[in-house]
Amino acid sequence: MPKNEAKANKVNQTGLYWLGKRTEVERVILPFQVVETINESKTDREKAQRDLFTKQARDELWRNKLIWGDNKYIMASLLPEFAGKISLIYIDPPFATGADFSINIKLGDLKWTKEASVIEEKAYRDTWGRGLDSYLQMMYDRLVLMRELLADNGTIWVHLDDHVGHYAKILLDEIFGKEQFINEIIWYSPDNFQGNVNRYADNHNLVLVFGKTQGVRLQRVKIALDKPIKRDKRIWDKELGKVVAARDEKGKIIYETFTQKFADNVWTIGQSSVSKERSMEFLGYPTQKPEELLRRVVLSASNEGDLVADFFCGSGTTLAVAEKLGRRWIGSDLSKFAIHTTRKRLLDIKECQPFEVLNLGKYQKAKLKENGVSRYIDFILKLYRAESLSGYTTLHGKKAGRMVHIGDVDSIVTEREIRETVKECASAGVKSVDILGWDFEMGLHDLVDRIGDEYSVNIRLVQIPREALEVRDAAREEVKFFDLNYLELEHKLSGKTLTIALKEFVISNPEYLPGEVKEKVGKFTDYIDYWAVDFDYRNDTFHNMWQSFRTRKHPSLETKCSHIYEKAGKYQVLVKVVDIFGNDTNKMLEVEL
Ligand SMILES: C[S@@+](CC[C@H](N)C(=O)[O-])C[C@H]1O[C@@H](n2cnc3c(N)ncnc32)[C@H](O)[C@@H]1O
Repeated sequence: MPKNEAKANKVNQTGLYWLGKRTEVERVILPFQVVETINESKTDREKAQRDLFTKQARDELWRNKLIWGDNKYIMASLLPEFAGKISLIYIDPPFATGADFSINIKLGDLKWTKEASVIEEKAYRDTWGRGLDSYLQMMYDRLVLMRELLADNGTIWVHLDDHVGHYAKILLDEIFGKEQFINEIIWYSPDNFQGNVNRYADNHNLVLVFGKTQGVRLQRVKIALDKPIKRDKRIWDKELGKVVAARDEKGKIIYETFTQKFADNVWTIGQSSVSKERSMEFLGYPTQKPEELLRRVVLSASNEGDLVADFFCGSGTTLAVAEKLGRRWIGSDLSKFAIHTTRKRLLDIKECQPFEVLNLGKYQKAKLKENGVSRYIDFILKLYRAESLSGYTTLHGKKAGRMVHIGDVDSIVTEREIRETVKECASAGVKSVDILGWDFEMGLHDLVDRIGDEYSVNIRLVQIPREALEVRDAAREEVKFFDLNYLELEHKLSGKTLTIALKEFVISNPEYLPGEVKEKVGKFTDYIDYWAVDFDYRNDTFHNMWQSFRTRKHPSLETKCSHIYEKAGKYQVLVKVVDIFGNDTNKMLEVEL
């Protein structure tokens, strides 16, 4: 062999290599924001407000966590509090190169395809932009963080198929160590009918199981036998050092009837529970997995009270199963639709423990202004496809004959800000303005028409979408801007009982809905997917105290709710409506009793 070739062939470690492989993993630790708490008791809410930030108080007041965002940032940000604390991590990352984020949505009688958002497209590019090379790097970065989050006796379960399963096993060997490998579970779903003609049908996935340390044991689950069998009772014979048939005092073999056996590493679980419309489990999430699969995973690798995590949670199968089995849980997904689907799924579980919905948005917003206010304004104008203007105080740009004002990144758009903008429009002889903001003062919707009439200026309030935080090139990437929806409520106080009813809801951008969907809309509630009320909002987090939402089982929405207050006083009531696009509309009421 020529000398050079011998040198090139000299490797000092067996492993998997790909173009651009990096083994240092970025750890950006960002603060989380709690955007909503769900099912929290009144005492816990008060306790949380009293001793908000002490570690002990946080531990005592554990709330399960559903986090919206890229799991790379989420996991790094969880490390300071949760390194070495998670007993079980199950992940079902995207693993088919052709997969995308467009999802068929069905709400009541309405059906349409949700296109990928900018966040989802970016994740897709990060994952598959350079084919397998970028996929492997994406997985490597995340598996390293997961290893750090796992408890010493914890296990990781990585669900894949034959596109990438073989690569992933080598990655896991590298990150966890070959000795930590425990099992390769084959999930066999014989009812997964396909049209393969020239090859065999793909009816299995694999789940690779690794321990954080050597010798971690699984609690094997038992499964029902097709029919009971009679078999000799097996016992351990100490002297012989092996398992033998048990005998009675007369030396006769003892027989027993078995109805169950320990599962082996092939789990036969049908797909129909998640793919058939008539099944109770089916949510219409394209990659949803059966609860029975996750039930076996959770029972094998955790005990009641243990912390279970799924950082690619999708429709929330792992979290729902963990909840039903009394485990604590953390879940994340970068799709807003996945987070919303999971929230509804959990709320549908009887006596679901308190949980909170979090995100990392505040930090990303601050980053937008890092290079100065004018850069920030230019960026949003470009994204909104507006041209920039100079010489005004409050007017930043112009689009299709309308002026554009851009609200600050870290504060809400107030009535005062609107008045100043509209005044400047009036004195410049301008007749219309779009006011863009991240958040708006409560109740502005009712005010803007009045302010507009006062100055003869047409005002439109436009929501800057959170997706804007993910955009790098504003001139080329596209995000959808939605006008603020219109929500009208009716409320009645009778003694200490408050009743609230939905009176009107107008989505401002029905043009984003396909024509055939629009035609089917019969009443305003068809546009609403979910609504919730905090009857005692204290200008902090939204505490969900009542909610109604549509599911396949119950496609219609309640339009009225009531609440009995214990004490007289003044209360702020915050109503949150999520429309069929997943956008929030809030409205505040003040009541005195
Ligand atoms: C195969 S699905 C999971 C399905 C889930 N096991 C279930 O039963 O519904 C993969 C999920 O990963 C999410 N995802 C992809 N990249 C992500 C990332 N970087 N961070 C967080 N979630 C991500 C997708 O939005 C998708 O919901």
